[in-house]
Amino acid sequence: MNPIIAPSILAADFANLQREVEMINSSQADWIHIDIMDGVFVPNISMGVPVVEAIKRHSKKPLDVHLMIVQPEKYVEAFCNAGAETISVHIEACPHLHRNIQQIKLLGCKAGVAINPHTPISHLSEIIQDIDLVCLMSVNPGFGGQKFIEKTYEKIEELKTLINAKKSSALIEIDGGVNQQNAKALLVAGAHVLVAGNSVFALENPNEAIRRLKEVS
Ligand code: DX5
Ligand code: ZN
Repeated sequence: MNPIIAPSILAADFANLQREVEMINSSQADWIHIDIMDGVFVPNISMGVPVVEAIKRHSKKPLDVHLMIVQPEKYVEAFCNAGAETISVHIEACPHLHRNIQQIKLLGCKAGVAINPHTPISHLSEIIQDIDLVCLMSVNPGFGGQKFIEKTYEKIEELKTLINAKKSSALIEIDGGVNQQNAKALLVAGAHVLVAGNSVFALENPNEAIRRLKEVS
């Protein structure tokens, strides 16, 4: 099966966001992945609600919003109103994760849980049935362009087993260091969604890079 491809706008040219979104519209990409960083949960600051609204005005693709922020409950409504289709919160930032997921779903968005490289898959066991997506971090969150962590393959297998055991319909999304070289192995391991920042936007022909990722099978 072809993967869902979600180019990460973090690697785009922010001075030409409309052009970048139109490139994604014209490509085989399925979603647009948007990284929100608060400088607290992660050591970087990226963008906020007004930028998501601006992307939404031009995008023909669903917006996949990845919140790398503390206290996401303060902001999920704003991101939902800004046009997010899916909102993922970090398990490490949410002592009341079940409540966070309920809130996202009540607002009418799809709910995802993102997990850092050091967080065991078993920590998802009581929430996996309630969520639409697991965003499995394959780098430490905070920056684009980092090296893919090889241990991710094992975690995908483990997550697949958990999803099957709990009869969950959650999609497995891989975020960080995804490229043309590892995409096939990620799909074979069980990934459904590939987020790709630098391996799309740093290339001369991003549209072609997206097509090649989409056609990996
Ligand atoms: C990392 C972000 C990723 C990042 C991926 O904190 O969550 O979505 O943009 O970028 P690449 O594909 O360049 O690793
Ligand atoms: Zn991300």
